[in-house]
Amino acid sequence: MQALVLAGGAGTRLRPLTQTVPKPVMPLAGRPFLSFMLDWLRAHGVTETILSCGFLSDRVRGVLGDIYHGMRLRYVIEDEPLGTAGPVRLALDGGFLEERLLVLNGDVLTDMDLTAQLEQHRQTGARATLALIAVEDVSSYGVVPIDAERRVEAFLEKSDRPAPTDRINAGAYAIEREVVESSIAPGRAVSFEREVFPALVGRGLYGYETSGYWIDIGTPARYLEATYDLLSGRPESSLPARDVTGSLIGAGCLTNGAHIGPQAVLGSHCSVGTDSTVERSVLHDHVLVGADCIVRDSVLADRVRVGDRARIEPGALLGTGARVEPGVVVAADSRVQPGAVVEVGS
Ligand code: GTP
Repeated sequence: MQALVLAGGAGTRLRPLTQTVPKPVMPLAGRPFLSFMLDWLRAHGVTETILSCGFLSDRVRGVLGDIYHGMRLRYVIEDEPLGTAGPVRLALDGGFLEERLLVLNGDVLTDMDLTAQLEQHRQTGARATLALIAVEDVSSYGVVPIDAERRVEAFLEKSDRPAPTDRINAGAYAIEREVVESSIAPGRAVSFEREVFPALVGRGLYGYETSGYWIDIGTPARYLEATYDLLSGRPESSLPARDVTGSLIGAGCLTNGAHIGPQAVLGSHCSVGTDSTVERSVLHDHVLVGADCIVRDSVLADRVRVGDRARIEPGALLGTGARVEPGVVVAADSRVQPGAVVEVGS
């Protein structure tokens, strides 16, 4: 089975973290995010994955390479962003596609049953089958109602009116090659959600109602939520053992005299000074936190340095190489640009 992962978005909602590291390979619980997706795809029989990249594509290839645990990885690189469907057409025109394809949004952490989705796709003779997942709060998503035969009835955008279903598009599609040929225009940006699928309603488009763990990691809050979930063991993954506080400490970290956890992740070669607290936060690699600091519910990208007695309040995101001077309080929900220096009063 062949899959194509959409991994070319700019990840604007995760800036400044995504200014230097593309979302698909941003560390999640100490591993490049896509490695969780690739494990999931392998478990459902995918033997080749096409990574559709644009923004910072070299970084994606540099991190993942051409083989992942026996799975072949191929890259299709866009000069201009082609949206969610345009890249699939580009892959077709480049001679990459076989007869049937799984297309996945590259920012979803899930354990949903792709094997069952493919089985339903075969049984119904669908031209395309979308995974649909129930969410508690549909207000930030469009919903997709289906009929008793599981045919998609409509694509309903976000609206103030009560939604007829709590099922949303989970970003996992089984698609026949002929749909790519006939329904996705070449050479321009095309959206599955706004163009291709609405036009396929009543013409062989089915929904597969799935369940299980599902989260898209595209916002800071959901990135942290996915981190806490992985640390607590749902979804299952091959993460190393967590410590008694439920935290994950990478290789070469120095934390003597510091309070790490609960639910913290330290990448490799981080250092946290005496009497400092790091809780419910993520430190990528080579992050240095001085003595007597507090870091809560925040994300510090590679090589961030935090001076003694500084405080990082919940929801802060510090870009690669940012520096916080001693004694500074970085306010809740702050965004610190890569390489920026935060001084007292700034
Ligand atoms: P935001 O800018 O924060 O909305 O993030 P995003 O750029 O990732 O957009 P969105 O979350 O809507 O994208 C869903 C998936 O499609 C992600 O896996 C993106 O990487 C991917 N994607 C979005 N736009 C493009 C594109 O133009 N080309 C490719 N190849 N992938 C894309």
